[in-house]
Amino acid sequence: KPLVFSGVQPTGNLHLGNYLGAIRKFVALQENNDCIYCVVDLHAITAQLVHEDMPGQIRAIAAAFIASGIDPEKHIVFNQSAVPQHAELAWIFNCVARIGWMNRMTQFKDKAGKDRENASLGLFAYPSLMAADILVYRATHVPVGDDQKQHLELARDIAQKFNNDFMEHIRRTDYGVDTMVGEEHVHAYFPAVEPLIDGPAPRVMSLRDGTKKMSKSDASDLSRINLMDDAEMIAKKIRKAKTDPDALPSEVEGLKGRPEADNLVGIYAALADKTKEEVLQEFGGQQFSVFKPALIDLSVAVLAPITGEMRRLMDDTSHIDGILRKGGERARVRAEKTMKQVREIIGFLQ
Ligand code: TYM
Repeated sequence: KPLVFSGVQPTGNLHLGNYLGAIRKFVALQENNDCIYCVVDLHAITAQLVHEDMPGQIRAIAAAFIASGIDPEKHIVFNQSAVPQHAELAWIFNCVARIGWMNRMTQFKDKAGKDRENASLGLFAYPSLMAADILVYRATHVPVGDDQKQHLELARDIAQKFNNDFMEHIRRTDYGVDTMVGEEHVHAYFPAVEPLIDGPAPRVMSLRDGTKKMSKSDASDLSRINLMDDAEMIAKKIRKAKTDPDALPSEVEGLKGRPEADNLVGIYAALADKTKEEVLQEFGGQQFSVFKPALIDLSVAVLAPITGEMRRLMDDTSHIDGILRKGGERARVRAEKTMKQVREIIGFLQ
């Protein structure tokens, strides 16, 4: 079975972008894969070291995973800091990755802003830890939103350079596998990471501005639907969502140059498990005065049960903590197996 890994940061409001770009895909992938889903608390301290309620935020992400339908018995749900092997491999990857590679990361530039000299070293090395999260399990498939694409390309580069630099060492152990990279046979330790970014909503946009990503940090709460919003709030935000004056087109091409319409159709499609084509077959020619109420009904029908279950789970902290603890134990066993091999490949005495 292919091994799937992904992570979500425990930083504030989980929103519809996180749900459609990531968590909903996590749920669907459970059927045919072996899945590891992580609350990445080590990543959460890169931009802001001190968090008001770190335990509560970690529990909220775990609760969102489970309320959405992730099965923590069949798969693994845990928080990153419980498995120190992530940080250990990240250190090694810091010595594999080049400063020039990190300098190209657009998310670092965005998050560090103008005062780059004052950003944490952790924020700069963030993609290296992300590569370690995935590769410490030698996972291959990574469901994420479109904004993580560049980080996953970097994870591939890190894996490839490690495989290359240690080629002779890997050959001397039994730990490598023969794979094809394009036309070439290579003997590799770390596999190539494959991003899973498909679907109708890989990049959910702000409800106030169709050219801006829906984000936790947007000052306007009306720009996003939070997973903890109640039905009334969801309805209000969709009613107030920016649109243009035209009716919906009947073909996907007709959404070009209409970012707000495109976004709402993508959201509808993702929530209904349909394609945008199918949604437009149904709503093409209709005004937003018809489409918005349908989108409100669908959003509430999908999100309300998740919100309710999240609240219930978050009230029972010992239950959630138990799930995370057990998940951490299982993850640690797997991660340690990789790290033993990595230490041997590098030549550390152990
Ligand atoms: P994070 O916590 O910012 O976001 C979690 C997931 O939600 C997706 N996402 C979106 N998708 C569509 N539209 C949006 N507007 C939107 N906003 C967020 C993100 O792409 C992500 O999939 N670096 C990662 C966490 C991470 C990780 C990993 C992911 C750490 N280690 C290893 C995969 C593999 C992050 O900050 O996600």
